[in-house]
Amino acid sequence: MIASGTRIKRGLLIAAALVLLATPGMTQSVAERLAPCLACHGENGTSTMPEVPSLGAQPAYFLLIQLFMFRERLRNVEPMTSMLKGVSDDDLRRMAEAIAKLPAPKADETPLSPDRATRVRELVAQHRCNFCHSGDYSGQENVPRLAGQREDYLIKALRGYKDNTRRGYDAQMADVVEPLTDAEFAEFAHYLARIN
Ligand code: HEC
Ligand code: HEC
Repeated sequence: MIASGTRIKRGLLIAAALVLLATPGMTQSVAERLAPCLACHGENGTSTMPEVPSLGAQPAYFLLIQLFMFRERLRNVEPMTSMLKGVSDDDLRRMAEAIAKLPAPKADETPLSPDRATRVRELVAQHRCNFCHSGDYSGQENVPRLAGQREDYLIKALRGYKDNTRRGYDAQMADVVEPLTDAEFAEFAHYLARIN
């Protein structure tokens, strides 16, 4: 009886030690931790994978909020939620600061349609995208950079705010997209992906 109880206890201790070893702790450097992330998002700040956002030059505060939302499953989308599960606030902050220093994404080099650009400027005047996202669309504070973002991801993000599959940290974007159509999302995305 006693012998088997001890065996069980030792088994539990070993299991606990293995969990500790497997849990990424403070010993793991930010660079090590970001390596798998940047395999998807692009080491140089520009993503080459469909519907995976470029992260280069995003405001650190915007990144921190989004990482926090993934961890808390407020923005519930794989693989992000599993990858950030249990990561400490300090580590989220370190990751956000490191990512923000990556170079700005390279804009799509296929030609910008002048007609579509004119149409977008009219829409911007109406909906004031440049007021929050800043005049050159480089973002600020909690508002993301849009310039040079992947066209497919921009469309996905705008659709997500509209059909509530993407919850924002606050309701600003839900209000913005409310009167906009899918065809207008395509116009914004075409334009924003092609500017620096
Ligand atoms: C397998 C590919 C993959 C890996 C690995 C990955 N991501 Fe992501 N990430 C995505 C996708 C896809 C999205 C977009 C989710 C959506 O459509 O809402 C995303 C979204 C994000 C966003 C939000 C960007 C924005 O503009 O809204 C941030 C920040 C981010 N990831 C950081 C990270 C970090 C940090 C890691 C490593 C811990 C990581 N990602 C690992 C695929 C990946
Ligand atoms: C009142 C301020 C405000 C206005 C106006 C605004 N935005 Fe935003 N936008 C935000 C904020 C804040 C976020 C981040 C929300 C979140 O937490 O998901 C955001 C996020 C986005 C995203 C997601 C980008 C990413 O990397 O995940 C896109 C795309 C976007 N906005 C496009 C637009 C467009 C196009 C317009 C004009 C039609 C516009 N925004 C107008 C504040 C604004």
